[in-house]
Amino acid sequence: MIPEFPVVPGRDLNDGTVMPQFGLGTWLSPKGDVEAAVLTAIQLGYRHVDAAWVYGNEGEVGNAVAKSIKDGFVKREQLYLTTKLWNIFHDPKDVDRACDMSLNESPLTDYIDCYLMHCPMHFVGPDDGPALLDESKPACADADYLDTYKAMEKLVQAGKVKSIGVSNFNQFQLQRIMNNCTIKPVVNQIEVHPYLTNDALVNFCQENDIQVMAYSPLGNPSKPVTRVWDENAKTILQDEKLLAMAKKYNKTVAQICIRFGIQRGLILIPKTTNPARLQENAEVFDFALESGEMDTISAMNQNFRVVELPQNAGVRYYPFVDNYSE
Ligand code: A2P
Repeated sequence: MIPEFPVVPGRDLNDGTVMPQFGLGTWLSPKGDVEAAVLTAIQLGYRHVDAAWVYGNEGEVGNAVAKSIKDGFVKREQLYLTTKLWNIFHDPKDVDRACDMSLNESPLTDYIDCYLMHCPMHFVGPDDGPALLDESKPACADADYLDTYKAMEKLVQAGKVKSIGVSNFNQFQLQRIMNNCTIKPVVNQIEVHPYLTNDALVNFCQENDIQVMAYSPLGNPSKPVTRVWDENAKTILQDEKLLAMAKKYNKTVAQICIRFGIQRGLILIPKTTNPARLQENAEVFDFALESGEMDTISAMNQNFRVVELPQNAGVRYYPFVDNYSE
């Protein structure tokens, strides 16, 4: 029997499709755990899974999707699958092959709902399997993301992908795509949480009918490098103002962070492989923060980034700068 759809609102994308506003992130989900996590998530009512070739666990995500469909928990058309073109496949001649690699990881799927360019920068690297980037020495190549994006447009025409978008793009790069390409990106997936509210970029996207997908909406409390320069710094989950709000609503800080994003109109993909936290993170549609509380959380911004990108000499299209104009 197929369970009832959960009451997860959809966000209308600029190409006429709809993306569930809440989903499961899989970045850093350990191999061996992620298949069970995706299965559990789908059984709990998640209908959106965010994956990427470079996470190295796309095959497990695909297996869980196939199993859920085969066992009758969900139909393919009730699920929304997002995945991403990694930086080493930016040469336009590599884009179709990279998409096929992701598609082949999902045995019962012959299309991807949303395919994102993971980052505007082009790297050189082995493509025989996901190798996480050695951030100290990225070998940079110089494909222009415009040409990469134009190759992604062909995937839509070929029916392999329903929607295309980008990730980690700044507003100048988005504008350049809008000025030069045929299909407007449906989303820009960027880091957003109470310590990185990313207001200017979120506003720019929303003004241009590009939805914002927020990755690391909890500020990734467990990432080992988190605030390594300040051993007394607290993670978002220990923030006293957020703890007070959580207490008021009988919710957790994680739920407050997710709710904050939902009320900003963002699409959120918190990552967990823990069954209790899968449930917890989804229970965010039965309360609402007051506008003063939204303002309080907005004011917590510290421009604190969990995810950095290499910025060494010769790198083109580094996105995390305000005055970037290439
Ligand atoms: P775990 O997978 O062990 O649950 P983000 O999505 O912001 O990048 O954060 C992901 C990290 O936050 C993961 O390491 C995850 O660990 C942890 N996490 C996810 N949900 C919760 C939660 N509700 N409470 C505490 N930690 C969480």
